[in-house]
Amino acid sequence: MSRSASSQQPLSWWRHAIVYQVYPRSFRDANGDGTGDVEGIRLQLPYLSALGVDAIWMNPWYPSPLLDGGYDVADYRDIAPRFGTLDDARRLIAEAHDHNIKVIVDLVPNHTSWEHEWFKAALAGGPGSPERERYIFRPGSGPNGSLPPNNWVSVFGGSAWTQTEDGEWYLHLFDISQPDLNWNHPAVREEFRSIFRFWTDLGADGFRVDVAHGLIKDQTFRDVDDPDKALTVSIGDDHPHWDRDEVHEINREWRAVLNEQEARLGRELMMVAEAGVSPESLPLYLRPDEYHQAFNFDFLECPWDRDEMVDRISDAIARADAVGSASTWVLSNHDRVRHATRYGLPVDTDNNEWLMHGPYEILDADLGLRRARAATLLLLALPGSTYVYQGEELGLHEVYDLPHDVLDDPVWARSEHTFKGRDGCRVPMPWTADGPSFGFGSAGSWLPQPASFATVAASAQDGVTGSTLELYRAAIALRRELWVNAPDLVWDNEERNNVLSFTRGSLRCVINLGDDATDLPHGDLVLSSNDVTGSVLPGNTGCWLRS
Ligand code: NOJ
Repeated sequence: MSRSASSQQPLSWWRHAIVYQVYPRSFRDANGDGTGDVEGIRLQLPYLSALGVDAIWMNPWYPSPLLDGGYDVADYRDIAPRFGTLDDARRLIAEAHDHNIKVIVDLVPNHTSWEHEWFKAALAGGPGSPERERYIFRPGSGPNGSLPPNNWVSVFGGSAWTQTEDGEWYLHLFDISQPDLNWNHPAVREEFRSIFRFWTDLGADGFRVDVAHGLIKDQTFRDVDDPDKALTVSIGDDHPHWDRDEVHEINREWRAVLNEQEARLGRELMMVAEAGVSPESLPLYLRPDEYHQAFNFDFLECPWDRDEMVDRISDAIARADAVGSASTWVLSNHDRVRHATRYGLPVDTDNNEWLMHGPYEILDADLGLRRARAATLLLLALPGSTYVYQGEELGLHEVYDLPHDVLDDPVWARSEHTFKGRDGCRVPMPWTADGPSFGFGSAGSWLPQPASFATVAASAQDGVTGSTLELYRAAIALRRELWVNAPDLVWDNEERNNVLSFTRGSLRCVINLGDDATDLPHGDLVLSSNDVTGSVLPGNTGCWLRS
């Protein structure tokens, strides 16, 4: 049973919110320097309000050398000068609140940037200094310590250790510029409690917590049997750095801070975990004294297949409900190939690496978008909250043919130029059909935009019946009215190939995942993802019906 749907109490905002993910660098450039900024986000608040979103999640906007898109934070209590000032952030948050939009900020606790004051002090302090204890420094192995301390590898490729000039090595599970913090150190613990207070005092309503499952490392720093396998997480595996039991103590510490702040500030606060753990482990992060929510990547990775989807949706709802949380639904973000593109590739796969390579020459872009639109109606009818990644409301595709010389993601270099990385979903937004960077700014954009952006720009879709933007606007408005307080979900068990169908009270959601048309069940048609005429639901189309 879905608590969110059955409760008679007013729902906490985060249980049913539409959260719009803003990638600040690529959203809107108000000062014409080719990079998005806080003022640009503020200027788009009326657009976001008209779209109907309940909250925005800001990807990292802190001072940073941007060696991993800002997930390399040099100062957790300021805004990067290229994006604006702390006053700009304060003003944005206040104006967002005037539009009834909450603001979630990104917190990156696993690692800092190598430009963070603490890391500079650690390097200057030398081996054995107290400054080094806030990070994970170790002597090397092999002759004269010239080899890494162990065989752990980085998520971005290569060893997870880098040697400093004085011979010691530091751990970085991601880029060389992102040294891992030592979460067994009391100063690290206190620092992040204080950062939670800082941003909530400034007006933030919540936190998206990066690599929430990675903070605690096996203190024996033993070698692993299979270093590459140790990067993937499935139940029963023994991981030296993912999903270790002690991480839950940290979750509880943070929840306590948020609860205190909530009482003090009189606003409902939340935190959502980016925890790449197995679906079986995820509910442990969602216990009432830990995270409010976590991203549901199991569903994001689901192939376009009715039975798989039904299983993963049922599991996610039941698992979240068992611990009093509410599931999240997300199909795209700044790390994944955009789902309009994924759904247009012929192979059902959850293998992101394969997707980074294509084969894009056989991409059926129209089919991908058609499926993406149907999936939107599915997500918005489900109990729980939905995360929308900027540009998916325009039906944007992955820009998979970016030239090598513009690639910025560290994955490109660290994979020795075998993976292009994640820039293809981070290309700046097209707001207008013409102009120097399709309305992104008055100059160019930090990543080149394809010519096809002219036809999908927001201005080209605004007010156009049947456009993806208008579909999102209509669906989000109707969702609030119809689905948010609807009763629990009940699957229709009809044996119809590749047709997913459920009711919630008098409402029915039907998604035809097959290519062939199927009979439309009885009921008044409320909304469909593509044209529906008569009593036939075309292939790769979703609809909402009311009886
Ligand atoms: C997950 C973030 O979403 C991703 O963009 C980043 O590279 C890693 N965590 C490391 O912070």
